[in-house]
Amino acid sequence: MRLFWIVLPLALAGCVDRKPPTGAEDFATFCAACHGMGGRGDGEAAAGLDRKPADLTRLSARNRGVFPGTRVMAKIWGYTGVKPGHSAEGSPMPQFGPLLQGELVPYDGGDGIATPTPVRLVQLAEHLRRLQQ
Ligand code: HEC
Repeated sequence: MRLFWIVLPLALAGCVDRKPPTGAEDFATFCAACHGMGGRGDGEAAAGLDRKPADLTRLSARNRGVFPGTRVMAKIWGYTGVKPGHSAEGSPMPQFGPLLQGELVPYDGGDGIATPTPVRLVQLAEHLRRLQQ
């Protein structure tokens, strides 16, 4: 019966804990295969792609030191299911439907306009911001 006391709290925690995954967790699940855990574009799947995954640690550096939040959001949001079964514009990036679930929060990518945005996409963008070098 001892197993019961181990399983029960886990089961309860599973019911109560409805927090969405963190940005880092979603990055690991949906992005790291191509972009690599550190975002450098060196994921395991990268070698098999025609187009090299972007180095996501250099987004700010390539944008005169400013994190291009709006562009990044457009990129990842654009891939979340615009065309069923396809990713946008010949890019190998897949869709990330689950990232659209959950509440909407205001996101200002730097252009002064706060757009209601799925919270997991916002967390993901914040994770990318933290990866900048
Ligand atoms: C199947 C491989 C693959 C996966 C998975 C993937 N990407 Fe990409 N990504 C690419 C490739 C290839 C490019 C470069 C071509 C392009 O821009 O579409 C790219 C480009 C990008 C860019 C544009 C960078 C720039 O220079 O503007 C961003 C931002 C990005 N990815 C974020 C993500 C995020 C966030 C995830 C996870 C939610 C993700 N990607 C998952 C392959 C992938």
